[in-house]
Amino acid sequence: MTTSSRKLDHIRICLEKAVESELRPFRDLELIHRALPEMDMAEVDTSCSFLGRRLSAPLLICAMTGGHPETRKINANLAQAAQEMRVALGVGSQRAALEDPQLEDTFSVVRGVAPDVPIIGNIGAAQLRKYGPEVLDRLRDMVDADAVAVHLNFLQECVQPEGDTKAKGVVEALRSLSRAPIPLMVKETGAGISREVAGELLSAGVRWVDVSGTGGISWSGVEAYRADVAGDQESAEMGRLFQSWGVPTPASIVECVSSGLEVIASGGIRSGIDAAKSIALGASLAGAALPFLSPATRSPAEVSKVLAAYIRALRICMFLTGSRSIAGLQSAPLIIAGRTREWLEQRGYNTAEFSSIREMAR
Ligand SMILES: Cc1cc2nc3c(=O)[nH]c(=O)nc-3n(C[C@H](O)[C@H](O)[C@H](O)COP(=O)(O)O)c2cc1C
Repeated sequence: MTTSSRKLDHIRICLEKAVESELRPFRDLELIHRALPEMDMAEVDTSCSFLGRRLSAPLLICAMTGGHPETRKINANLAQAAQEMRVALGVGSQRAALEDPQLEDTFSVVRGVAPDVPIIGNIGAAQLRKYGPEVLDRLRDMVDADAVAVHLNFLQECVQPEGDTKAKGVVEALRSLSRAPIPLMVKETGAGISREVAGELLSAGVRWVDVSGTGGISWSGVEAYRADVAGDQESAEMGRLFQSWGVPTPASIVECVSSGLEVIASGGIRSGIDAAKSIALGASLAGAALPFLSPATRSPAEVSKVLAAYIRALRICMFLTGSRSIAGLQSAPLIIAGRTREWLEQRGYNTAEFSSIREMAR
């Protein structure tokens, strides 16, 4: 199977099947309601800067697609909505266009439609090692990117029949890019980034991560559906077994923020409330992928509608916690309960003194 046709398979499964982890870790978090905000809602400023560009809110449409002729329209719709709502946009893995340059325009379409918002290119860690540091220029030029994200998806590779599980040498490959002429990010794809990995990334010169933790889409689950269709029952069972594997998103945010990385929160962010909670945990931006996929198959207006609901809920959270700005929301008090609290306590964080964890990171 080619990279290009696999892309289409993935989209079809994400649109039709239950592909999310069973965890709902954001239910463990509560922002503290402030009955007396002592400000007007009109004073709330959700805007921020990201990669040198201004955003209306700290939101990212995470990397999804490109790489098959039928995905061009999806990327164009996402880009038009990102431009209209002034939020950042990631493209899916550009590997297919490296293998077949005729597919480049399924990615490059985004910059034509979204000239003013940050665009993040994308490549897998295995391909980065294969093509070497020079590939970065091609990826950047293809979409006129403001940054390039290297994705880590070894859980998926373990379950995929054609998966590449050679993980040796990735940190070295990242280190060789630390002086690249474009900001480099590292992102997971639904299994999260731990403090130990955050430390390795920092030592390799990486400053930005998108945690993409457990709690949203599960690529292990997606591959289980592909294995079903291929009649590979063993892989299907393995995929389901690992459907909720990984570092849950809120825990991953705390582990990466406290390590000193700039953090984008993603993985199960299903509303502006989840986005607000992530930012209160110390993330700079929040992102989502799956909630935008189905709207993007229809029209840019449908994507904008979902984004508008995220931004409205984020604004309400800011008003009701007395946070005038995103920096203010980053110091809003919050309750950490349940499994997230247990996770963090076992990892040595004092959740009762959560503000000191955030301070430590600054
Ligand atoms: C259809 C689809 C395709 C994706 N393709 C990529 C990809 O090519 N590269 C990548 O880094 N992440 C990819 N992702 C992962 C997302 O960027 C994100 O990390 C993950 O979906 C978690 O966010 P969510 O729970 O909001 O979906 C994809 C996600 C979806 C839904």
